[in-house]
Amino acid sequence: MRAAGYDIAVFGGDGTGPEVVREGLKVLAALGEGGPAPWQTTEYPGGGQHYLATGREWEPESEAAAHRADAILLGAVGWPGATLPNGDIAGRALVLGLREGLDLYANVRPCRLYPGVLHRISGTYRNVWAPEHVDLTIVRENTEGLYTPARGRLRRAGETEVAIDTRVITRKGAERVIRYAFETARHRSRGAPEDGAKRVTCVDKANVLEGCRFFREVFELVGREYPDVQREYAYVDAFTQWLVRNPEHYQVAVATNMMGDIVTDLAAVLQGGMGFASGGNIGTDHAMFEPVHGSAPKYAGKNQVNPFATFFAVEQMLRWLASRHRDLRLTAQADRLERAIAEVLAAGGSGTYDQGGHTPTSAAGDRLAEAIRRLPR
Ligand code: IPM
Ligand code: MN
Repeated sequence: MRAAGYDIAVFGGDGTGPEVVREGLKVLAALGEGGPAPWQTTEYPGGGQHYLATGREWEPESEAAAHRADAILLGAVGWPGATLPNGDIAGRALVLGLREGLDLYANVRPCRLYPGVLHRISGTYRNVWAPEHVDLTIVRENTEGLYTPARGRLRRAGETEVAIDTRVITRKGAERVIRYAFETARHRSRGAPEDGAKRVTCVDKANVLEGCRFFREVFELVGREYPDVQREYAYVDAFTQWLVRNPEHYQVAVATNMMGDIVTDLAAVLQGGMGFASGGNIGTDHAMFEPVHGSAPKYAGKNQVNPFATFFAVEQMLRWLASRHRDLRLTAQADRLERAIAEVLAAGGSGTYDQGGHTPTSAAGDRLAEAIRRLPR
């Protein structure tokens, strides 16, 4: 526990990123009312739009602040036409750059369906899965795999002839993220919805890929240290259908980087859509929290997108800070936030367009801030 508050570096980024982050800050402010808040937030510019305006993805002091901060809250990056000379998206520094630079090796994406949240499937809004069936956490490796910057093109006379991405799986990278998954399974109070079991599913393509066979070997070794947690294997292709058909079977799943990227977007459908999906990029000394939905340029400036993914990111951030610093004040605030979120969702969902409603982003934030104020500090 720290007497002075925790420093939170905030990057709105591009498109709808600043709009949802504004609501996240509103909610943090509501939590902090009535006493000195145990945190302070500072906003910094950066991203693809910043790059178009300045020629820099972010400013040197923003990068330094991100490295210094106790935690980072990121909106989203990516803007049409904002591309670095090497073809990467401008704003990469804030997301992939920080994952690499701060060694944020576990991308933790909870997938939980709250009562009151609808699914959008085939253009209609309805309840397909019951809330009690969807409560899993996907842990995605976040620093290597297909995202390792070992890629390139062979050009002859200016013409691309070959493009190569290399997938790198290391013992260290696999071990630590798999351990993170087992620790999550062991310490999460809720087991798999189906049977209450603590269970980690290794999602891979070990029937074909050498890196996946190695990932499985490491999974088996690490898993043996957790006799209280079931070990299970799923090929990623089959996993996609099992996840949709039987989400209640899963408590924690672990996957390599790219596979984790794909299955977490699929899983978001189970929790009501990307408007509810948050991720924590967790390292040993640093962590960054974000809504997973991206900058959604089409909706930028319209005050329409769903801010709940950001609210869940804020909750994840408070819980991570609480456990890292053994600070019960933050646990209490995270619990209060979770309760307020559940109340607002149960009383009619986010109401935003992605849920079939017309509630503006800012009004959804106001509603949550009011619900927080009604709960005891
Ligand atoms: C995510 C995103 C990022 C990724 C993009 C924006 C680089 O899709 O966080 O899932 O691929 O990891
Ligand atoms: Mn993604």
